[in-house]
Amino acid sequence: MNKIKNIGVLTSGGDAPGMNAAIRAVVRAGIYYDLKVTGILRGYEGLIHGDFIEMDRKSVANIIQRGGTILKTARSDAFRTKEGRAEAHRQLVNQGIDALIVIGGDGTFTGAHLLTTEFDYPVVGLPGTIDNDLEGTDFTIGYDTAINTVINAVDKIRDTAESHDRLFIVEVMGRDSGLIALRSGIGVGAEAIMIPEANMGVDGLVTRLESGRKDKSSKIIIVAEGDEVGGAFNVGEVLKEKFPHYDIRVSVLGHIQRGGKPSCMDRVLASRLGVTAVEGLIAGQSGVMVGQKNREILFTPFDHAIKHIDAKEITPAWLKLVEILSL
Ligand code: F6P
Repeated sequence: MNKIKNIGVLTSGGDAPGMNAAIRAVVRAGIYYDLKVTGILRGYEGLIHGDFIEMDRKSVANIIQRGGTILKTARSDAFRTKEGRAEAHRQLVNQGIDALIVIGGDGTFTGAHLLTTEFDYPVVGLPGTIDNDLEGTDFTIGYDTAINTVINAVDKIRDTAESHDRLFIVEVMGRDSGLIALRSGIGVGAEAIMIPEANMGVDGLVTRLESGRKDKSSKIIIVAEGDEVGGAFNVGEVLKEKFPHYDIRVSVLGHIQRGGKPSCMDRVLASRLGVTAVEGLIAGQSGVMVGQKNREILFTPFDHAIKHIDAKEITPAWLKLVEILSL
């Protein structure tokens, strides 16, 4: 028997394009299955403070195409404490919310895992992060849009780099993950990518540039913000010393990568996963993230989703591909 009558939905951590499409799917699926849906503002922080709003089909009209999150988001220090989580649980019970859907990344799921285990409270997660650094799904909601934002920006940088015969070091997001750098680097035809998982180091980059073609008029190096060298400006300093003849510029793309209209891939992924999250809760799922792998929907326990064990596609074969293509 289905005991769930009222589900809460929140977005937490860094926002990602497609979060609104996910909220819309959760709300519409909830209504479809005769559930009440309560929106929680500003993630776990808003939950602790009881910032609730009732959601209806109209409250999610016209948002599928919008970046950001209408529920707003936050990173909550209070929720990291047991007292904070106890208060959050108290708010949920007081509000009559029987189960929760959280949309976010590894920080969000770390919190969700604790909420389910400490209070035996049903929570299902949706992978919403531009970083794509979660197990249990080929792609996270927001990643496709973010890498397209990166390639659009770097294509423009390539135009000016080519005109001036310059070497550009472009820093992309990914505090702990090089997945944005890897795909976008291949997409823009980068001469090299530097990512935390590959540990190329500046020496490796210098060797790559020394052995590379000398007649290229522009060069693009993509650096993930989490790379051990410490960001694009540090890489730029080292390269300026080693290659004084190069005209070097640095460009940090920053938060433009988190905004903008979600791509169709992200809208569809968010819609499919959002509906499945509601159906999963109704069927008794809890403590799991819903994801899509090889086109199949699957549920992965939170503590596994955040483990970064497969490091996804960052395999030697992909790194070799970057090297081959940069000839
Ligand atoms: O959303 C993930 C992420 O974009 C990381 O790649 C990045 O390091 C981080 O968020 C930055 O977030 P903020 O500026 O919100 O602290």
